[in-house]
Amino acid sequence: MSNTLIDVVVTSREDQGAGVAIFELSPVARESLPAYKAGAHIDIHVNSELVRQYSLCTTPVKEGTYRVGILNDPNSRGGSRQIHVDFKVGSTLRISAPRNHFELTVNSERTILAGGGIGITPLIAMAYELQAKNKPFELHYCTRTRGAGAFAGELQSAFPGQIYFHYDDEDHSQLLNPEEALSPCVTGTHIYVCGPTGFMDWVINSAKSLGYPSAQVHFEYFSAEVDNSGAGFEVYCAQSELTVAVQEQQSIVKALEGAGVKIDVSCEEGVCGTCITDVLEGEPDHRDHFLTEEEKADNDQMALCCSRAKSSRLVLDL
Ligand code: FES
Repeated sequence: MSNTLIDVVVTSREDQGAGVAIFELSPVARESLPAYKAGAHIDIHVNSELVRQYSLCTTPVKEGTYRVGILNDPNSRGGSRQIHVDFKVGSTLRISAPRNHFELTVNSERTILAGGGIGITPLIAMAYELQAKNKPFELHYCTRTRGAGAFAGELQSAFPGQIYFHYDDEDHSQLLNPEEALSPCVTGTHIYVCGPTGFMDWVINSAKSLGYPSAQVHFEYFSAEVDNSGAGFEVYCAQSELTVAVQEQQSIVKALEGAGVKIDVSCEEGVCGTCITDVLEGEPDHRDHFLTEEEKADNDQMALCCSRAKSSRLVLDL
């Protein structure tokens, strides 16, 4: 994967309801932007320190540009707030090439897309791709209130008969009923979920209780609470031959930073994968939402921003 950054310019900004701004990004030079598949995201370098991930949701008619929808999150640690203040039409910024940890299986017999709030963005790209390939799908869009759904008008026009809107605090008949939406569970039906952590856990657990195997349930977390509780432990960096003590309530990243070892991070919440590092010995206590259950079981890599250790010592390939 290329780490080369791409300079882009904001060619359109549309502020929609509930604090969401939709940005269209075009290349500064005359080169074209790398192609991507539905579910991909880009890193946006908000400033020299801050890197944030946003899903791409470009419409087919705007191919050749990238489109992102960004919520001005009141709980933001600075990224989305700064983007909303600073990025206007004509602003230039740096982004990564697209990466995809949330790939769509286009040839599924049936696809159910369930998005909560701004988690709708990767699912928009999936819906367009499924529509282009003439594949059956349903798109469920859950928001707190009727006015809180960015993209709502576009989705209504683009996917009539396939889009279902659900509102939490209005007419309760509009609430998402996972048993109804996800049934029946049959081989060939795949579910894709994105949104706030509580929403995702609810949909994923509902799918499991309906009998969906994990291979048919796909998800991407935007953010997560980090739980740093638990006893301290020791980390040994094999390449630099350095031993570092990780204290209670301290992340491995912070402990290493204190010892002069800088780890690249982005989300610092275990959702983006930037800090994933190979483990040579010891048993991690995985607390991230990035690695799959199978990858976690292998215990040969871990997210250093949030995960801890079950063993008293970890040996890392650093
Ligand atoms: S920095 Fe995002 S998973 Fe660790």
